[in-house]
Amino acid sequence: MSRTFRVGTSWKMNKTIAETEAYLRELVAVALPPEVEVFVVPPFTALDAARRMIAGAPIRLGAQNMHWAEAGAHTGEISAPMLVECGVEIVELGHSERRADQGETDETVNAKVRAALAHGLRPLVCVGDRAEELAAGASTETVLRQVKMAFAGCDPATLAGAMVAYEPVWAIGEAGRVAEPEHVAAVHAGLRAGLASVGLADLPLLYGGSVDADNAAGLAAITDVDGVFVGRAAWTAAGLREVMTAAVAGWRGRIAA
Ligand code: PGA
Repeated sequence: MSRTFRVGTSWKMNKTIAETEAYLRELVAVALPPEVEVFVVPPFTALDAARRMIAGAPIRLGAQNMHWAEAGAHTGEISAPMLVECGVEIVELGHSERRADQGETDETVNAKVRAALAHGLRPLVCVGDRAEELAAGASTETVLRQVKMAFAGCDPATLAGAMVAYEPVWAIGEAGRVAEPEHVAAVHAGLRAGLASVGLADLPLLYGGSVDADNAAGLAAITDVDGVFVGRAAWTAAGLREVMTAAVAGWRGRIAA
């Protein structure tokens, strides 16, 4: 079992540079639980400011997307070397909003994972079942296929910092409802077992989708949940801290048992 619990937040298309500075000024001023890996994923325009604000603090920096190419005629895109130069360590790939809105596919996610690894970035691959797949009882096989496709052709020995976030499409955002603990437990256990057969048993499995301070402890208490990936509830520094406090309590209870 992983001895580190992960708590991350993507701000999606939110926060100016000034708002980023205010959030992180508040966050760096408090002591964070030592066994938690904390990461924030601001929009591109705030990455440099975020890097300066968290310098020396135990907070890691992520980006929300990148292109698979090193450079070139890809208007509006950002490359791995650009992220590395901004102090980015983690790159979120394949979020369902990007799969739905920007036509992200398992193939493009795989190309991005390979490029991220080639540049020393840690991919955080987001996978999720749609409501139709949930209704058909096909959640686990759907996300297992997405994870296998994302890491296809990658040497497991190169994946030390990589992560997966299980984020049911029906659980994300204003219209979402957090998944039942039994469902999360079943999908994470299925992912773990299925990934073991392709040498990927060690990939940390985070849960995301309507995580908040009320449900984080219960989610963190589930075997095979190695972290939580949070949207709305962590868009204030106080909100992130509340989720973190709850999650750590649930996780500590689990590993002490
Ligand atoms: P949410 O977003 O917590 O606002 O549902 C989660 C995500 O998209 O990662």
